[in-house]
Order: sequence, then C-alpha cells, then structure tokens
Amino acid sequence: MRMFLTLVAVAIAALVMAGWRAPVAAQSVSAENPHRLPSTHFGSDGPVAAHGFDVPPGFAGARVANNPLAMDATPIGAATCTACHSREAQNFAHTTHALGMQVAEAADPQTPTCETCHGPGSRHAQDPTAKGLIIAFSHEGGSPIETQTATCLGCHSGGPRDQWTGSVHQRNELSCSDCHNPMARLSAEGLMAKPSINETCATCHTDIRQQFNRRSHMPLPEGQMACVDCHNPHGGFNNALIKTDTVNETCYQCHAEKRGPFLFEHAPVRDNCLNCHTPHGSNQHALLVAPVPMLCQQCHSHVRHPNDLLTAQSLGTGAAPDERLMGRGCLSCHAQIHGSNNPSGPRLHK
Ligand code: HEC
Ligand code: HEC
Ligand code: HEC
Ligand code: HEC
Ligand code: HEC
Ligand code: HEC
Ligand code: HEC
Ligand code: HEC
Ligand code: HEC
Ligand code: HEC
Repeated sequence: MRMFLTLVAVAIAALVMAGWRAPVAAQSVSAENPHRLPSTHFGSDGPVAAHGFDVPPGFAGARVANNPLAMDATPIGAATCTACHSREAQNFAHTTHALGMQVAEAADPQTPTCETCHGPGSRHAQDPTAKGLIIAFSHEGGSPIETQTATCLGCHSGGPRDQWTGSVHQRNELSCSDCHNPMARLSAEGLMAKPSINETCATCHTDIRQQFNRRSHMPLPEGQMACVDCHNPHGGFNNALIKTDTVNETCYQCHAEKRGPFLFEHAPVRDNCLNCHTPHGSNQHALLVAPVPMLCQQCHSHVRHPNDLLTAQSLGTGAAPDERLMGRGCLSCHAQIHGSNNPSGPRLHK
C-alpha cells in the first residue's frame, strides 16, 4: 500500500513538473534585494497568484524551528534525518518546499531544511520514540497545536492568514496539517492533504459536500468550483468564513449582473441572496429555499393578488386553475425578480 502511494505521489509530481513552463532560472534576482533567491512560485495560474495572496519570504532566511519541548536540542542536518527517514525524504523531494530549499541549501549549506519545520533533531535522534522531542504535525505526536501552527506561520503569517488566530478552525484545534501535507505532492497545487481542495474540506464537512449532490447546485462536483471560491479556510471577520465583507459581494464575484444598478430594486435581493437561495445545493429549481409561489408568499401575503388562497381547485389540474400556479408561477409576470431597468418595471415585470 505504501509502495503504491509512493508511486502515485511520484507519478503526480512527474506530471505536474512536466506542466511547468517557467524554469526557476529564468526569473531574475530583484535589483533592490540582490540576496533574494529566485521565486519558487512556478505559475501565474497557481492559487497564490489567482487569489492575489502575499508571497512568503524565501528559504534563504529559513531558521531552525523553535521546539519548546526540546529546548536543549541542537540541529543535526537533513542528511542525518534522511538516513533514518529515506522514504519520507523521497516523497518530500517533489514538493514546492523541497525545490526551493534545495536552491537555498546549494547557495548556503547551513540553511536548515527538515529542521525548519520539525525543529532541532539531536534529542529525537537519540530517542526517536519519545514524544515531543521532534515537532510532529499531528494530533497524537505530542507537539502542541500551537507549536505546529507557529512553525508554519513563521513564514506564512499575514495575507489570507491574518485572521487565523481566533478563527473557527483555530478555535476548534485544527492544525495546518489537517488540510496541508507538505511531505508529498498529493495535489496539483497548494500542498493539500487530499488530491483536491474539495476533497480536503469533505474529510470533515461531509454534510456540506453532500448538499452539492442535490438536483440544483453550482458546478463544484463537476470540478469547476471549490469551497475556497466563497470561503477563506484560514479565517476572516465574517460569519461562516465568508471571503468578502457580505454574502452578496461573494456572489457578485461571479454573478456580476445581479449587482445592478437597477432602476427598480427588489429589496430582499439587495439585502441578502440567501433570502431566497441556498449556496450549497437545493432540491428546488435554481437553488431556491422554497418553491414558487410559496417562496414569494413568505413575504407577500397581505395585499391584493399575492394574497390569493391557493386551493386544490386552483391547481394547474383543478377546475379553476390560478395563473399564480401555472407555468412559472409568480415569475410568469414578475420575471425580473432580481431588479428591473425598464421604465415600466416597478412591479418587476420587465
Ligand atoms: C522557511 C519558511 C517556510 C516554512 C517554515 C514553511 N513554508 Fe510553506 N512555503 C514557503 C515558501 C517560500 C513557499 C513558496 C511560495 C511561493 O512560491 O509562492 C511555500 C509554499 C507553501 C504552500 C503553497 C504551495 C503551492 O503549491 O502553492 C503551502 C500550502 C505551504 N507552503 C504550507 C506550509 C505549511 C503547512 C507549513 C508548516 C508545516 C509551511 N508551509 C512551512 C516557506 C515556508
Ligand atoms: C536514528 C534514526 C532517526 C533519526 C536520525 C531521525 N529520526 Fe525521526 N523518527 C525515527 C523513528 C524510529 C521514528 C518513529 C517513532 C515512533 O514511531 O514512535 C521517528 C519519527 C519521526 C517523526 C514523527 C513523530 C511523531 O510522533 O509522529 C518525525 C516528524 C520525525 N521523525 C522527523 C525527523 C527529523 C526531521 C529528523 C532530523 C532532524 C529525524 N526525524 C531524525 C528515527 C529517526
Ligand atoms: C514545510 C515543512 C516541512 C518540512 C520542510 C519537512 N516536513 Fe516532515 N512533516 C511536515 C508535516 C506538516 C508533517 C505531517 C504530515 C501529515 O499530515 O501526515 C510531516 C511529517 C513528517 C514525518 C512523519 C511521517 C509522515 O510522513 O507523516 C516524518 C518522518 C517527517 N515529516 C520527516 C521529514 C524529513 C526527513 C524532512 C526533510 C527531508 C521533512 N520532514 C521536512 C512538515 C515538514
Ligand atoms: C481548513 C483547511 C485549511 C487549514 C486548517 C489551513 N489551510 Fe492553508 N490552504 C487551504 C486551502 C483550501 C488553500 C488553497 C487556497 C486557494 O487556492 O485559494 C490553502 C492555501 C494555503 C497556502 C498557499 C496560498 C496562500 O495562501 O499563500 C499557504 C501558504 C497556506 N495555505 C498555509 C497555511 C498555514 C500556515 C496554515 C496553518 C496556520 C494553514 N494553511 C491552514 C486550507 C487550509
Ligand atoms: C479536520 C477537520 C476539518 C477540515 C478538514 C475542514 N474543516 Fe471547516 N470546520 C471544522 C470544525 C471542527 C468547524 C467548527 C464546527 C462546525 O461549525 O462544524 C468548522 C467550521 C467551518 C465553517 C463554519 C464557520 C462558522 O463560523 O460557522 C466553514 C465555513 C468551514 N469550516 C469551511 C471549511 C472549508 C472551506 C474547508 C476546506 C478548505 C474546511 N472547512 C476543512 C473542521 C474542519
Ligand atoms: C457559492 C459560494 C459557496 C461555496 C462554493 C461553498 N460555500 Fe459554504 N457557505 C456559503 C455561504 C454564503 C454560507 C452561509 C453564510 C451565512 O449563513 O451567512 C456558507 C456556510 C457554510 C458553513 C457553515 C454553515 C452551515 O451551513 O453549516 C460551512 C461549514 C460551509 N459553508 C462549508 C463549505 C464547504 C465545505 C464547501 C465546499 C464543499 C462550501 N462551503 C462551498 C457559500 C459557499
Ligand atoms: C466562483 C464563481 C461563483 C460564485 C462565487 C457564485 N456562483 Fe452561483 N453559479 C456559478 C456557476 C458557474 C453557475 C452555473 C451556471 C450555469 O450552469 O450556467 C452558478 C449557478 C448559480 C445559480 C443557478 C443554479 C441553477 O440550478 O440554475 C444560482 C441560483 C446561483 N449560482 C446563486 C449564487 C449565490 C446565491 C452565490 C453567493 C452565495 C453564488 N451563486 C456564488 C458560479 C458562482
Ligand atoms: C426574492 C428572492 C430572490 C433573491 C433575494 C435572489 N434571487 Fe436569484 N432567483 C430567484 C428566483 C425565483 C430565481 C429563478 C428564476 C427563474 O426561474 O427564472 C432565481 C434565479 C437566480 C439565478 C439563475 C438564473 C439567472 O437569473 O441567472 C442566479 C444566478 C441567481 N438567482 C443569483 C442570485 C444572486 C447572486 C442573488 C443575490 C444578489 C439572488 N439571486 C437573490 C429569486 C431570488
Ligand atoms: C424576504 C422577503 C421577500 C421575498 C421572499 C420576496 N419578496 Fe418581493 N418584495 C419584498 C420587499 C420588502 C419588497 C419591497 C416592498 C416595498 O417597497 O413596498 C418587495 C417588492 C416586490 C415587488 C414590487 C412591489 C411594489 O410594491 O413595488 C414585487 C412585484 C415582488 N416583490 C414580487 C416578488 C415575487 C414574485 C417573489 C417570489 C419570487 C418575491 N417578491 C419574494 C420582500 C420579499
Ligand atoms: C398574471 C400575471 C401575474 C402573476 C402570475 C402574478 N402577478 Fe403580481 N402583479 C401583476 C400585476 C399586473 C401587478 C400590478 C398591479 C397594479 O399595479 O395594480 C402585480 C403586482 C404585484 C405586487 C405589488 C403589490 C400590489 O399588490 O400591487 C406584488 C407584491 C405582487 N404582484 C406579487 C406577486 C406574487 C407573490 C405572485 C405569485 C403568488 C404574483 N404577483 C403573481 C401580475 C401578476
């Protein structure tokens, strides 16, 4: 099984590497900082560029991680780790970190690699089974979650992780390694713990992932969207880790035409798309929270025609079919439900 996993990881790495076009050497050392190493960010289509995230410091300034449970330990160097951990080192060799670290180590052999994440290894090498002597990125390894995340944040604080401390995932004791596995290239990008972002989230949020299997859903199961199109798993100021200031701003990123401006607005649309839609999947048409006309009648019930009592007689198959239950229901006439720009559209007819 392990052999198989290794082969899969190597195969994925090979494919990914074949896809990289911009060689590291092609990028120049920046003029204002001549000591900065070439960027290890290989594609403009990667998640980092696509989401405009800050680029972390390079590996040239890497230092040995601080392990409070082994304060007297000293660094022993990657070659010693590799002597006992050859399998892990082989898998690691194909990752973004390893590639950057190799460049940094070639420039300065003192640059720590394994120990920049795992902390100084002398005590662990003497007594490998004692817990806590090496920083383990797991819930069982004896290293406090705080130590684990502080190690990664030493290079990756700020940007999308500004609000990590206090975020729902941090408060629920998640470690970076619950979503990331930097020891092998399991995903095409982002060093995810599973082959894709959606599968990674689904390891815990199975219920949400299953909602996307409902009749109406955005194309996430089809692989065209990811949870991170709407959420920042690293934290944020908003309810439910929403990426933007409001739910509507998130939706407008892709459904820009719903932003307007409209001559005649429909108040609940401006207020919150979730008044009528559910983001993760619905068994109603168009991700609606309830079928038309009941959806509309939750709010419009006391004046004139929306107030009609809908009985069996008035069903499409009844003796006196009501136009509100035929065709597209209320939408047959109020077609511009998100707002209208027509001078005669105050009732959202056109
Ligand atoms: C010594 C500094 C350093 C440490 C420590 C470090 N990283 Fe990185 N990491 C980097 C650099 C540099 C990059 C490359 C960024 C780039 O090219 O844009 C990177 C890239 C990444 C990426 C993006 C990979 C990709 O394919 O886009 C992830 C995810 C990541 N690191 C997670 C982690 C996690 C989790 C930890 C802790 C276990 C960690 N890092 C520890 C420096 C570090
Ligand atoms: C003398 C051999 C030896 C050396 C040298 C060594 N290790 Fe280990 N390491 C082991 C063994 C054996 C285990 C498994 C311990 C166990 O299962 O309890 C282990 C476990 C680990 C773990 C998992 C800990 C956990 O609790 O999950 C990490 C991480 C690790 N080593 C990293 C390193 C790093 C980094 C270095 C170099 C600084 C290193 N090791 C050097 C033998 C070694
Ligand atoms: C960017 C940070 C980082 C670097 C650099 C790094 N590791 Fe790891 N290592 C991790 C994380 C995170 C895990 C936990 C992976 C997981 O979730 O299973 C881990 C897990 C391990 C384990 C436990 C077994 C396993 O595979 O889960 C060993 C052993 C290990 N690393 C050895 C090494 C060695 C040897 C090196 C240097 C060649 C190294 N690591 C470099 C972050 C790092
Ligand atoms: C709940 C899951 C989850 C946790 C926990 C998590 N991440 Fe991430 N991380 C992701 C996902 C998903 C992406 C891809 C984001 C994208 O493509 O927009 C990502 C992207 C990244 C990246 C590369 C892109 C960037 O933001 O620069 C880095 C670096 C990173 N995470 C570091 C960390 C560190 C450090 C921690 C721990 C403090 C951490 N992550 C915890 C899910 C997680
Ligand atoms: C290791 C398990 C785990 C993984 C993996 C995970 N989460 Fe979570 N997530 C939690 C826990 C625990 C909570 C808090 C309890 C709850 O609300 O279910 C939570 C809460 C949330 C919330 C609700 C926040 C709120 O304020 O109500 C969102 C949104 C979320 N996660 C998104 C994601 C996304 C997106 C991913 C993938 C990038 C992800 N999670 C991966 C465990 C996880
Ligand atoms: C189209 C945008 C979008 C996508 C894609 C998306 N979400 Fe959400 N998610 C939302 C919105 C909006 C909320 C509700 C926020 C509120 O109630 O204010 C939410 C709420 C949540 C919550 C907390 C409330 C609840 O329903 O339990 C979790 C957990 C969550 N999402 C996880 C995920 C996961 C995991 C994925 C990927 C499988 C995902 N989301 C994909 C927009 C999205
Ligand atoms: C990352 C882009 C993206 C974001 C963000 C996004 N959507 Fe979508 N949405 C899509 C795509 C793509 C489709 C499918 C369009 C198609 O099939 O023609 C879609 C379809 C829909 C549909 C029609 C579904 C159906 O079954 O016909 C509704 C309703 C919808 N989105 C509402 C929302 C709401 C509400 C939000 C904010 C919570 C949102 N979307 C955020 C990309 C996005
Ligand atoms: C008052 C209820 C209501 C609100 C609020 C609402 N919608 Fe809709 N939406 C509907 C109805 C009803 C349909 C089905 C229309 C149809 O069948 O022609 C729909 C359809 C859609 C569709 C698919 C068809 C199309 O027009 O492209 C998208 C996308 C969509 N809504 C996005 C949004 C976004 C984004 C918001 C927030 C800005 C929002 N909706 C707010 C009622 C609403
Ligand atoms: C969440 C509550 C809510 C829902 C659901 C809702 N509306 Fe509205 N609607 C309003 C509010 C509030 C107004 C503004 C009333 C005003 O300005 O007096 C409004 C205005 C309207 C108007 C313009 C009326 C006028 O007096 O100018 C029409 C037509 C309308 N809605 C039709 C619908 C239809 C059809 C649906 C179902 C697809 C629907 N609404 C769903 C709250 C809602
Ligand atoms: C056959 C076409 C038609 C259908 C179907 C229809 N409406 Fe109307 N609706 C109208 C017209 C026309 C007006 C404008 C009446 C006026 O200005 O006197 C209107 C006005 C309204 C108004 C404005 C307030 C008012 O009482 O004048 C609301 C709210 C409304 N409709 C909601 C609904 C709801 C909810 C449904 C579904 C249960 C619905 N309509 C179905 C044609 C329709």
